[in-house]
This record gives sequence, C-alpha cells and structure tokens, in this order.
Amino acid sequence: MQVVIQPNAGAAADLVAWIVAGQVRTQPRSVLGLATGSTMEGVYARLVELNREEALDFSRCRTFNLDEYVGLPENHPNSYRHYMNHHLFGKVNIELRNTHLPNGMAEDLAAECENYERLIKQVGGIDLQLLGIGRSGHIGFNEPLSAFNSRTRVESLVPATIEQNRPLFKRDTRMPHQAITMGVGTILECRRCILLATGPDKAKIVAQAVEGPLTSMVSASSLQMHPHCTVVLDVAAAGQLKGMKHYQRLFENDPKWKAFRERMSVGDTAPLRTSVC
Ligand code: GLP
Repeated sequence: MQVVIQPNAGAAADLVAWIVAGQVRTQPRSVLGLATGSTMEGVYARLVELNREEALDFSRCRTFNLDEYVGLPENHPNSYRHYMNHHLFGKVNIELRNTHLPNGMAEDLAAECENYERLIKQVGGIDLQLLGIGRSGHIGFNEPLSAFNSRTRVESLVPATIEQNRPLFKRDTRMPHQAITMGVGTILECRRCILLATGPDKAKIVAQAVEGPLTSMVSASSLQMHPHCTVVLDVAAAGQLKGMKHYQRLFENDPKWKAFRERMSVGDTAPLRTSVC
C-alpha cells in the first residue's frame, strides 16, 4: 500500500483523475471500477474536463460500479445510476451500454448479484477500482464484519452509514436500508485499487484502515493486503496517521510521481501526460 498526501481535496482529486487518465490512455479498453459519494465528485469533474479539453477517450472503456441501493429505480435522484449519469457518463464519450451498476430493483436480488460477478469475470476483471471510505470503514457498502472473501451480495446498512447518507435524501423519501455491493473479495481481486478520502471527518477511520490491524470490523483495512493499492488523502484526512511525515517524504522522492509533481508545480494548464504509476 502506498499513502499519498496532497495539500487539499482538489489536489487529491486531481491526482486520482491523473491516475485514471494514465490508465485509460495506456489501455483504452480498460475496465474501470467506479465509486460514488461526494468525495468522488471532484475526480469525475476533472475527468470530464480532460475528456473535453485533452481528448481523454472513454469510448472503449467498460465500467462497473461498486454498489447500488436496493429498491431505488434508475431514474431516482438518489440512485447511484443517476449519480453516475449526472457526474460522468452523461458528460463524456462513454457508451452507456458499457457501464454497469447492480440493479437494486431486480426481482431476484441473489441472481442479480451472481450475474454481476459473472459479468466482471467475463470482461477479464477490473483493471482499476476507485474507492471511497464510509465512516463505518466500509468500501463499497461492505459494512463491519463483511468477510474479506465476500462476493457481490445484498448488505444491510449500519446506523453510521444511514446517518451519513440520509441527509442526501429528501425529507419525504425513505432511504433504503439495504444495498447491493461488490464484496471485499471482489474488490481485492481488482488489479489496482485507489482509495480517496478527504476532510477531517475521515481522519479517524483512515488511520484505522491504513495503520490499524487487519479486521473485518473495518473493511477498508483489507486493502493492506492488496498488492497494488494507493491511498490518496488530503492533509486533513491524513491528520491521525502516525507515519504522515514518512509518507510525504516517500511521495516527494518517488520518481513515479515526478510527472504529477511537475504538472502541479506549473499549474493546472500543463498537459496531462500519459503515465503509468
Ligand atoms: C457511500 C458509498 C461508498 C462511499 C461512501 C463515501 O456510502 N457506498 O462507496 O465510499 O459513500 O461517501 P462520501 O464520499 O460522500 O463521504
């Protein structure tokens, strides 16, 4: 696991978008794993800009989202399908038929979960998976006690998650208490994972996930076992990490981040170079 700390949330989102752009440029047929949540909005906004201004081409990409609420139709403003269409799919040159989210309205939810796993396998697995982190330590909607080898399934949301996400629902809308989520095992099989967390509210759970023990009580701690995982944080979310200074030094001296460091030092107008890092 590598921890990369950026000065603010904008720079952290920029770095994640830069990694995704490098992936798509070097492998135009990439299978991208996508995440929702307010933290990811900055990443998608940057990817939309790169698509418009620097011809970042999504036309051959396929995508799989981590999760979807059970019982919300696609066109519901709180569905993750709606979120993805609004923030990314409707604004870049991706084929909608190549974008996948679990169907939370399926009559047979167990069959839907199995089918989602099958689809991911059929395309050869996920090349790059974006992840946020919930206050409960979840990745996707893998709540505490999710087995590290769990697969796509229906998960019941814990009170901390309901409390975190309820403000996004209008007062008269009942927030679902269940969701379909890729399992921790499904996520660990992705070839590369990028977890993005920003803001002081995430500092405690980030420290538990990154420096705490491996435990199914914090699903994100499973990423310590992933062979290619990058955790991108702003200074606020990194605030409780014991090794903060060490991670910062590593980033400053690591040649694989040189192109990004140079781009940031000359400002946002510098072209985004193709890079694999
Ligand atoms: C939801 C998603 C998670 C995401 C989390 C973070 O719960 N299911 O995948 O990590 O939101 O949300 P935010 O970025 O708004 O803090």
